[in-house]
Amino acid sequence: MLALLFLRTIYLHRYRIEHRALGAIVRYRSIISGIATYLPGMQRPCTRGTGGTDSARYCYSVWLRHLVMAKNNGLNHCPSIVAELGPGDSLGVGLAALLSGSDQYFAFDVVEHATSERNLQVFDDLVALFENKADIPNAEEFPRIKPYLTNYNFPSDLLDDDRLRRALDQTRMTRIRRAINNHHDPRSPIQYKVPWCDTSALEEETVDMVYSQAVLEHVNDLPGTYRAMRRWLKPTGYISHQIDFKSHGIDHEWNGHWTYPDFIWRLIQGRRPFLINRLPHSVHLSLLEQEGFLVLCDKTLETKSSLSRQHLASSFESLSDRDLVTSGAFIQATRKAASTPQGYEPDFQHATCFSDAVQLQ
Ligand SMILES: C[S@@+](CC[C@H](N)C(=O)[O-])C[C@H]1O[C@@H](n2cnc3c(N)ncnc32)[C@H](O)[C@@H]1O
Repeated sequence: MLALLFLRTIYLHRYRIEHRALGAIVRYRSIISGIATYLPGMQRPCTRGTGGTDSARYCYSVWLRHLVMAKNNGLNHCPSIVAELGPGDSLGVGLAALLSGSDQYFAFDVVEHATSERNLQVFDDLVALFENKADIPNAEEFPRIKPYLTNYNFPSDLLDDDRLRRALDQTRMTRIRRAINNHHDPRSPIQYKVPWCDTSALEEETVDMVYSQAVLEHVNDLPGTYRAMRRWLKPTGYISHQIDFKSHGIDHEWNGHWTYPDFIWRLIQGRRPFLINRLPHSVHLSLLEQEGFLVLCDKTLETKSSLSRQHLASSFESLSDRDLVTSGAFIQATRKAASTPQGYEPDFQHATCFSDAVQLQ
């Protein structure tokens, strides 16, 4: 028994040393790769591609999760005009929106990761998924995609045969394909704007849904971005965002990014156009309130913290206990009406896709 206890102590001691050594290696690697971005000729690491949307099944899974959640929260599950922040390697999530009936799609990024070639490949694979009414790829296939759903069957209640027939009509397909190649033409139903800088990127009150997947944690100007979204939304529009608060491999602890002093963080950031903004969940909730959003869904994920408060950098000393363990959130919110009469309920269910006003019909 004593021998067993002795062996266990040695094992734990070795584990702690190895864990600490690994932590140090990850930290130094992050700092060195940040500094390296200042060297002439060094490719900036986050311009190499983002992973994720280069797969049609990933895009299909992401889009249908946002749509199913919209339905669950009583929101418009047939939005005509959609805008996406940070589509990444392809415009596939927006193409999935068009293939389920949306009429117009705006994509805003800070780096032009997507190419027409990849978009066309993903598009063809998406058409097959919709035609076969494939089930939503689940957590076994994509453990990192959130939000998790309770049911991953193809959502026939949202995408019934009539809607699919209209959405997958051959003439419509041809127009979407053409639009993929013409996304710089201002009359195209697909607009890919890179870089986008301010609220003027879109006209006021024109969009039914603004969504993003794993993007808001990267945005440098978060207040400006919430302001822009509020301005773009139609009065009955809504936003839908999955946000990941983890350290994205910069530290070996999932929430270790809150331990770096600001000056070290600036070195890690280097010349990269974006990294992670380190803003916790509560900052998003404050900005939503400040910009006049009504939060209808805030589905958070909690992960145990191995950090104690004394490890936190001074900028994060006052992080709440809840923020310290909130590793992700799925948020859907509408505009708060300025002069909403009491008892008024906006008609979110009103199906607005297949609109005559836009080119895909
Ligand atoms: C982790 S990737 C996610 C890509 C894609 N949404 C996915 O699910 O695979 C983050 C994306 O956010 C973009 N991004 C960073 N800052 C942004 C900003 N201020 N506005 C729009 N997109 C931004 C990046 O260029 C990148 O495409």
